[in-house]
Amino acid sequence: MAHAELHTPDLEGSLWFFTRLLGMRETARHQDSIYLRCYEDPYHHSLKLTAHDRPGLGNIGWRTTSPDALQRRATALDQAGLGTGWTTGDIGVGRTFGFTSPDGHPMELVWDIEKYTAPPALQSRILTRRSKRPLHGLPPRRLDHVNLMASDVTTQKELFEHTLGFQTRERVIDAADGGTEIGAWLSVNNLGHEMAVMRDQTGTRGRLHHLAFWYGVPQHNTDAAELCREYGIQIEAGPDVHGITQGAFLYVFEPGGNRIELFGNSGILQFEPDHDTVTWDLADFDTGLAIGGATLPAETYFVYGTPGTDGQDKLLDGWKDRDLVPGGEAP
Ligand SMILES: [Fe+2]
Repeated sequence: MAHAELHTPDLEGSLWFFTRLLGMRETARHQDSIYLRCYEDPYHHSLKLTAHDRPGLGNIGWRTTSPDALQRRATALDQAGLGTGWTTGDIGVGRTFGFTSPDGHPMELVWDIEKYTAPPALQSRILTRRSKRPLHGLPPRRLDHVNLMASDVTTQKELFEHTLGFQTRERVIDAADGGTEIGAWLSVNNLGHEMAVMRDQTGTRGRLHHLAFWYGVPQHNTDAAELCREYGIQIEAGPDVHGITQGAFLYVFEPGGNRIELFGNSGILQFEPDHDTVTWDLADFDTGLAIGGATLPAETYFVYGTPGTDGQDKLLDGWKDRDLVPGGEAP
């Protein structure tokens, strides 16, 4: 995953969250959009924030393995009836092939992309690092994964397996309901997942569950929870560790209303070329959700996505009213 675009009805608040609290750096502004990156993200930006009347996913950009792969995958997506055509790209992004997921999530494929080169003042002496670690906030190192809500998990999962080469690492089924898939975790590399798909219990199509940024250090999730608590960012769940993917999680709501996960380890990594998909059943799901027993609130975690449904907008209004940054102080 190369980049993601989030819509936000509170651009200033979202910018505060990602730059002051999380220490991401701004790389460009254009019209209603601000481009940001973590200090180890390889490209010009990993996150584009765009002012919008409602929160949600603007785009997800997947980078192919070569120019030829881009053409092959574009053809496959066109044959699947999901292509929306070629674009001239964006700041830091060359020509892309746009498509939507079967559930309606906007996405694009890209090969030509601007690799980030730090200006002299930001060049790191750690040569594998694309820029210096920021001096403020609690900076994540890079964009990690996206979790999508879908009205039909199986259709979404199979499309990504068949057209883009994803492999399903883990899934959750409801055996009592004939084996219906209610969640799937997919990857194209060694990560336990770069994309997750979870059933939207409201039946809504094409929503975002969360976007995740990587710390790789569980203590950082505890530190981030402290900062969120002290500076008015609503915590939904965690810190704890999922049994599924073994990912150390902290879920918070950024001021625009999008759920953001801070990822405190690397989860289970996959090195077997012929691994088998692990299947969890809903009946013994507790360990899958949280090894340490943290509660994932049923009134939000399994039903709230962005954009919110009509009933959920009320929830968003409540978040907007809170005192986001007491005294305007930077962490
Ligand atoms: Fe996640």
